[in-house]
Amino acid sequence: MSDRGRQDVATMAVFVSGTGRTLENFCERIADGTLRARIGVVVASKECPALDKARARDIPAEVHPGTLTEAALRKVLERAGAEWVVLAGYTKLMAIPEGYEGRVVNIHPALLPKFGGKGMYGMRVHEAVIAAGEKRSGCTVHLCDGKYDTGPIVAQASCHVRADDTAQTLAARVFELEKELYPRTLDAMLAGARESSRA
Ligand code: GRF
Repeated sequence: MSDRGRQDVATMAVFVSGTGRTLENFCERIADGTLRARIGVVVASKECPALDKARARDIPAEVHPGTLTEAALRKVLERAGAEWVVLAGYTKLMAIPEGYEGRVVNIHPALLPKFGGKGMYGMRVHEAVIAAGEKRSGCTVHLCDGKYDTGPIVAQASCHVRADDTAQTLAARVFELEKELYPRTLDAMLAGARESSRA
């Protein structure tokens, strides 16, 4: 990519805690040109497989234990030149630094506003969906507002919950939706921001 092309591409800071499938998916979508972005840094609150995946791809990887203060978060973002904060399985609550309103994005593996909130992550979400007898589940891309899963919804994708689903089979189906919805929604958001900064 030329320097001019690079300047046109927004930088994301990706926050992880888990296995890093979302991060890998972003890297693949960036490589095939469907997610027009670059990843400036990957941050976790503790060592995890997702950080190793970042290192394997030569993406700067940082561990910041505990909940990041707004000032500490700002430093991480400025050092990486990141205009967007993208949560990819990060389980800590995040303050929204000034200037990043509308630029901190998360994906949740259920159809918010149902099945969100503190403690609702991983298999617990899918177990709760099945226990409630829901006929449909899915995933939600939303803006973060400094609380758990309550920010404005940007996009959703849904699937059937089957009568014989376990939390694991439902999680796998929902994650297939996430792999499409998250990069596609981010690309559209980044492109929208590029357009309005040109206007
Ligand atoms: C995904 O299920 C996503 O919905 C949630 O965290 C999980 C990330 O998994 N926010 P991974 O670490 O990317 O494999």
